Amino acid sequence: MDFNAYAVLITGGASGIGLAVAHSLLEEGWKVVVADVDANSIDAARASMPSDHARCVVLDVTDEAAVADTLEHVERHFAPLAGLVNCAGIGRDVPFLDTDVALLRRTLEVNLVGTFVVARETARRMRGRGHGAIVNITSVSGLRGNLGRAAYGASKGGVVTLTQVMAIELAEYGIRVNAVAPGPIDTPLVSRMHAPEARQRWLAHVPQKRYAEPSELSGTISWLLDDRRSGYVTGQVICVDGGFIAGGLIRA
Ligand code: NAI
Repeated sequence: MDFNAYAVLITGGASGIGLAVAHSLLEEGWKVVVADVDANSIDAARASMPSDHARCVVLDVTDEAAVADTLEHVERHFAPLAGLVNCAGIGRDVPFLDTDVALLRRTLEVNLVGTFVVARETARRMRGRGHGAIVNITSVSGLRGNLGRAAYGASKGGVVTLTQVMAIELAEYGIRVNAVAPGPIDTPLVSRMHAPEARQRWLAHVPQKRYAEPSELSGTISWLLDDRRSGYVTGQVICVDGGFIAGGLIRA
């Protein structure tokens, strides 16, 4: 595929994992569209990538009409989308018994409904072209019961199932859909979500005994976007987690 002719849309792309992926894809020659609800972060992201191959837009992934308008604008004025990274997400560490319905609804709205809305709109556009790759960012908390993750884990578990359904339904259009499940990554989200005690608990359960840098997700995501390297991979959840999901009884 001629990377120069196509773009990858990265939601939540103005911070953390999304921003690192955007920089990495730009370096590889992709055109990138960074979309994020936070206007200040979008301004900073734009300043950090002074390239004709980058566009940075304010977008709330839960706003269906705005998502449709943005995709129309991107494809008409910039480049057709060959890839999507659904990275926008929110999370709080709250015990199940203290989780109120408003938090559950809001978390599902951004992490699950937002992922659905952007993926469906993007896939509708990819369908006629016969190719495309979608990467949904889930979490190890969508695969295991982790403390304080009633709302967040439920939303990310939903993303896993959504990924599998999309993969089997979109295969006939040449569209691949996979998920990446990060373990603990040092990002602004995690500095808000992991108190010092929680950090110690995570480190005790990660065989590599460390948090990762956001850039350590980029290689896996880039590989999944590239048909030449991962063309027969679809419907998978790939953990980038320092061994967390493989673990049971591990060394202290
Ligand atoms: P981050 O907070 O640095 O970045 C998330 C971005 O999403 C922010 O820029 C935020 O403004 C944006 N966002 C939030 N709501 C949005 C909306 N409605 N529309 C558009 N953008 C919105 O967080 P991080 O850590 O980079 O997270 C990226 C993804 O990775 C999230 O889906 C998160 O759940 C997931 N993840 C992160 C892990 C970690 O340890 N950092 C572990 C597992 C999953």
